[in-house]
Amino acid sequence: MRRLVAGNWKMNGLLDEAMQFVAELGENPAPEHVEMALMPPFTLLHPLREALSAKGIALGAQNVYFEPKGAFTGSISPLMLRDAGCHYVILGHSERRHIIGETDDVIRTKLLASWAVGLEPILCVGEHLKEREAGKTNDVLKRQLAILEGTDSGLPLTIAYEPVWAIGTGHTATTAQVTETHAYIHEELNRLHRHCRVLYGGSVNPANAESLLACPGVEGALVGGASLKADSFMEIVQAAAKVAA
Ligand code: PGA
Repeated sequence: MRRLVAGNWKMNGLLDEAMQFVAELGENPAPEHVEMALMPPFTLLHPLREALSAKGIALGAQNVYFEPKGAFTGSISPLMLRDAGCHYVILGHSERRHIIGETDDVIRTKLLASWAVGLEPILCVGEHLKEREAGKTNDVLKRQLAILEGTDSGLPLTIAYEPVWAIGTGHTATTAQVTETHAYIHEELNRLHRHCRVLYGGSVNPANAESLLACPGVEGALVGGASLKADSFMEIVQAAAKVAA
């Protein structure tokens, strides 16, 4: 299984900046054992489609609505994402769970709708600091992963473990915490008959990428802030290539 380094641009990026970013990635940016993906805002999906595919970089979206079409002003359907060239869609990101109020039920509906058109969801899970401090991390993860119960285990899926307290804060989880938590997630996925990649996310940067990506059970990274600049994104990709070699 190739490691995946995926850049989540969140609500950042204008057309000029995006084109400049892609130019700075160089000719053949993806090393042999690493898959690269980029999740720009919706407005940049179409413009980036060809430029990224020419460089072997997969395209993804940061969210989707679960209805196929109709009177849902402001929403984007799974088929529209496929039409724009997306392979991936991020679901259940903590910013959508906690700022927008998405529930596990809504996320499950989006998961099924994404699979229906052939998208590969990157399902984000992770606990709040209070939950970790109260020893509830595994309970939270178990509940968030339970939406996979009863789904077809042959459908494409990637999980991203992103502790909420590590996202955009500069506080990464320790390698011991990452190793322990990824082991639990893999155990839970096995119970659900799922064999898929589990990424780590939360303040991954060029300085800490190698040690985080080298943790057992970590098969890639979901990168926010450090994916906005081509050079720091590429340093993380190179770190993934180093540990994969
Ligand atoms: P961060 O974001 O790397 O800026 O912490 C990660 C994410 O939210 O996916």
